[in-house]
Amino acid sequence: MDAHNGQKIYAHIVGWGMAVPDSVLTNAHLEAIVETSDEWIRTRTGIRERRIASERDSTTSLGLKAAQRALDVADMQPTEIDLIIVATSTPENIFPSTASLIQHSLGAVKAGAFDLSAACSGFVYGVDMAAQSIKSGSIQSALVIGTETMTRILDWQDRGTCILFGDGAGAVVLRASTVEGGILSAVLRSDGSGSDMLGLPTVGSVDLRNAYSAVNGARPTTGLTAPELSPSLAGQMRLYKMHMNGGEVFKFATRVINESVHQALEKAGLTINDVSLIVPHQANQRIIQAAARALKVDTDLFMSNLDRYGNTSAASIPIALCEAIEQGRVSEGQNVVFVGFGGGLTWASMVVKWTGARPPEPGATTLINQQRRQISYLFARWQMRLRRFSRRWMGLFTRFLPRRGKNGE
Ligand code: COA
Repeated sequence: MDAHNGQKIYAHIVGWGMAVPDSVLTNAHLEAIVETSDEWIRTRTGIRERRIASERDSTTSLGLKAAQRALDVADMQPTEIDLIIVATSTPENIFPSTASLIQHSLGAVKAGAFDLSAACSGFVYGVDMAAQSIKSGSIQSALVIGTETMTRILDWQDRGTCILFGDGAGAVVLRASTVEGGILSAVLRSDGSGSDMLGLPTVGSVDLRNAYSAVNGARPTTGLTAPELSPSLAGQMRLYKMHMNGGEVFKFATRVINESVHQALEKAGLTINDVSLIVPHQANQRIIQAAARALKVDTDLFMSNLDRYGNTSAASIPIALCEAIEQGRVSEGQNVVFVGFGGGLTWASMVVKWTGARPPEPGATTLINQQRRQISYLFARWQMRLRRFSRRWMGLFTRFLPRRGKNGE
């Protein structure tokens, strides 16, 4: 709650939206892929089914849909957004960022955009970064998106991991206000010593350099360390596959939920008795039950929808938040806690005082605003094509221009 021009600025959640692929992958489907059973998955995790991205879905397209829905609820134009943060572990590129792709597709021409890597804690990290920027007065509004296509990075031969994850996206719009409330406190933590417990190696991975060489040719070296060129195809395939030590992650998760929720509440000057709802990262129903026992609260205080979506990593908290709002579990003046944990290791808790945000009443103004947003999306799509086309023509054209000498003659 920093001061700005003599007034305290607060960051409120004023819009929310989610998007999941249409295709459902049930536990029965998984029985045909790995040696498992519906009964084992349900009793050990609570998951019954998850969504799986089709050929047409991508991390960007799901994130874009969630963002558009969040803008609808906030009834804001994309041009009013100052910052877009995308929390994801499954970006389509290392760069350009998924955030930049979404920024363009929205027509959010005044927004900065970047991706944030904090695995399943990423959404809470992102909301805190955005809230801090708003409270400092540096920006007025932000879009924070958690979006994942986890099913594309799973090892479908590893029954310990492939049964857990699903695809989806959720987003929130944050806006500056002088009304007290909104994001009250956050605790962000990391312990890189646990980096081997949960991970997804990618292009720069030292362990996988040999696999990279096999695919792309040997990298020039100084001669001191000659690259070996005998990697197996299996090594190559693991380059973008997730690995996890489930038992250790389970213990870590239950410990940090309890610890960090208390820390975030203390920072906000509240206790667990002041909390109306906890929206945790949706990893495993047994983790939620263990966390409830540790916090000495009823399991019902926790929002849970993992039975239908599995673990959607950075998307799980905003998806659960959207459904909690839809079910009427969040109302004005209530304190809501978000808690995330995952690879890094990372974890994060946040206390939010919900302050009257609700979708706009249907009416002429809402309809006009909605149409303005649609025009912005359509214009952005054509603008990309036009810009690429004109760059290509300009490139061809300049090739035929006489070249200038060193001194510009
Ligand atoms: N179907 C059937 N059996 C399975 C199985 C599956 N999908 N996955 C593992 N098993 C087997 C194991 O091989 C093991 O067999 P064994 O005793 O013959 O060796 C047995 O079930 C018990 O395995 P274990 O790993 O001890 O099970 P668990 O009760 O710890 O459950 C997880 C495993 C992965 C569900 C659990 O550890 C978990 O949820 N951990 C947290 C993971 C997580 O949330 N990660 C993301 C964090 S962001």
